Amino acid sequence: MSPATLVAYFLFPTLATQKTFLKTISNVLEDTCSYIHQMANYFITGCFRGLSLAFAKQLASLAPSNVGTIFATARSETPALYNLVESCGDRVVFIKLDVTNQSNINDAVKYVESTLQGRGLDVLINNAGILPLTPDSVHAMTNLDEVLHTNVTGAHMVTSAFLPLLKDGKEKKVANM
Ligand SMILES: NC(=O)c1ccc[n+]([C@@H]2O[C@H](COP(=O)([O-])OP(=O)(O)OC[C@H]3O[C@@H](n4cnc5c(N)ncnc54)[C@H](OP(=O)(O)O)[C@@H]3O)[C@@H](O)[C@H]2O)c1
Repeated sequence: MSPATLVAYFLFPTLATQKTFLKTISNVLEDTCSYIHQMANYFITGCFRGLSLAFAKQLASLAPSNVGTIFATARSETPALYNLVESCGDRVVFIKLDVTNQSNINDAVKYVESTLQGRGLDVLINNAGILPLTPDSVHAMTNLDEVLHTNVTGAHMVTSAFLPLLKDGKEKKVANM
């Protein structure tokens, strides 16, 4: 992936730049899936919109022989996510999940465990995150606790809860966005 494309996406998020970026993501996912073992399962957080929704769509577009079940999670289901789940049958599963809510996380682990029936989870993508504006800039950072709680603690809570299932998976991969 070109660093220039990555920087351009975040600095100049025009539609054209985002399309180029998503195309790049698509190529990276195809490359990645070509060496990840067959039928790998994915669990993705924060699929309400943005990159994660794009990940779920791109993974679902790849051959079922490469990508097995995709657990697309979000705090609530958007029409785009609903349509993806509907169009992919059992392959894409929606799970309601706030990454800062331990009870949500425990329920998600139980659901994934029962769905995979002993196969284990292969890839966890910790994508859910916030990047709010800081009106007073770095002088105050009044929202620092909220940012750290979602982006750091939330990702840790999810990873920690899924470790047993990841250990049973063939890939044992965790990606932190
Ligand atoms: N490293 C970097 O330089 C860099 C730069 C930009 C972005 N990022 C990170 O990359 C990730 C994806 O970026 P993006 O552009 O796609 O961001 P985005 O459009 O803001 O999407 C973030 C997603 O995270 C979800 N989310 C936020 N808090 C959540 C929570 N507590 N539980 C569950 N879901 C939650 C949001 O859902 P809701 O709609 O429910 O809030 C949304 O679906 C984010 O984590 C972002 O912070 C990193």
